[in-house]
Amino acid sequence: MNKVALSASALLMGIAVTAIAQETPAPSLDGGYGLGRTALPEEIAAWDIDVRPDGLGLPVGSGDVWTGEELFVDYCSACHGDFGEAVGRWPVLAGGFGTLEGEDPVKTIGSYWPYLSTVWDYVHRAMPYGSAQSLDDDQVYAIVAYLLYLNEVVEDDFTLSNENFTDVVMPNQDGFFPDDRAEVEFPLFIQDPCMTDCAESVEITMRAAVLDVTPDTAEDDGAAEQPTAVVEEAAAEASGPDPELLAAGQDVFRRCSTCHQIGEGAVNRAGPVLNGIYMATAGTREGFRYSSVMSDAGAGGLVWNDENLSAYLADPRGFLSGNRMAFQGLRSDEEIAAVIAYIRATGAE
Ligand code: HEC
Ligand code: HEC
Repeated sequence: MNKVALSASALLMGIAVTAIAQETPAPSLDGGYGLGRTALPEEIAAWDIDVRPDGLGLPVGSGDVWTGEELFVDYCSACHGDFGEAVGRWPVLAGGFGTLEGEDPVKTIGSYWPYLSTVWDYVHRAMPYGSAQSLDDDQVYAIVAYLLYLNEVVEDDFTLSNENFTDVVMPNQDGFFPDDRAEVEFPLFIQDPCMTDCAESVEITMRAAVLDVTPDTAEDDGAAEQPTAVVEEAAAEASGPDPELLAAGQDVFRRCSTCHQIGEGAVNRAGPVLNGIYMATAGTREGFRYSSVMSDAGAGGLVWNDENLSAYLADPRGFLSGNRMAFQGLRSDEEIAAVIAYIRATGAE
């Protein structure tokens, strides 16, 4: 037992610990617990980003529908579709009007959300998925303006700003009202319970966990999980690729796997399957709908050799402006080398 633990337990037992305390001072409560410090104003400001329905918390800024469309196509459409109609199981962001009372309600910003502040806050706080908080304030205003346009709340010449923000009325605003259950429902619940004509047996038919909304890359469509076999094989073989590098690459690839699958059973998702991509011509994975920029680059001779892959993964937009990979890029050369090694080994055809 070390001295700190000894003195702590001795303290707990209420024993005098002077002899030990001379060497290791006993914990003291003087001046608080000795943990943490007062948060700086800058730190509080960085956390305090919520926006309220009455506009409190909105930064100064503005953006128009057309700018928003361009940004949306670049940063959002890979998952949500060009018009918010959604790709695969990603969330639908537009339409769904008049479906709330039906069997299969389509809850979108236009059909369901009561306040514009939720849209602004959500996009600013959490999107694009995987690169949250990478958009600046004017970009968020522009994207929100485009989302309003897609949901038929504004015309295409609209500019949203902190000044006209609270003028926008969401279609389903009146579908929400302050919680009145205390007055409306409580009186019903305090009556004597009815204990006649009860159902004979009660069974659980569904669990809420089954209804989750975030597609889980592998399990949801029965496709392969992120393959680990090559990494294990490399570890077993003495020659061949460096197992540590492959393991590091497998780790980096998790960030790609929001959009890309690789290995046996891989299918196109938000991004193309990456099997056989090393040394392949850009934009040629079968069945994937590439941006015209990517297809044209392939037709112009772009091949995914080490140099081009590294440059693309370091800065997807800088390397090929207008391509649709909504990914910020990898910061370090080590990560890039590792993920390329992993892709070569796992996606070899
Ligand atoms: C890689 C895929 C992906 C990209 C790119 C992406 N999103 Fe999302 N988005 C999601 C997922 C997944 C959710 C649901 C998150 C959850 O509920 O856990 C979501 C939810 C949303 C929602 C809430 C939908 C609802 O009804 O609850 C909005 C609004 C939204 N995204 C806007 C955007 C915007 C704007 C962009 C671009 C700046 C963007 N997203 C980029 C995947 C993506
Ligand atoms: C948010 C989704 C997303 C993420 C995350 C993502 N990608 Fe992509 N990726 C795409 C899309 C979409 C394309 C197609 C771009 C186009 O058509 O303009 C693409 C294209 C590519 C291509 C070119 C494919 C071809 O057929 O020419 C490579 C290589 C690639 N991604 C590798 C990666 C790697 C490696 C990572 C992780 C470090 C990654 N991507 C992360 C969505 C993503």
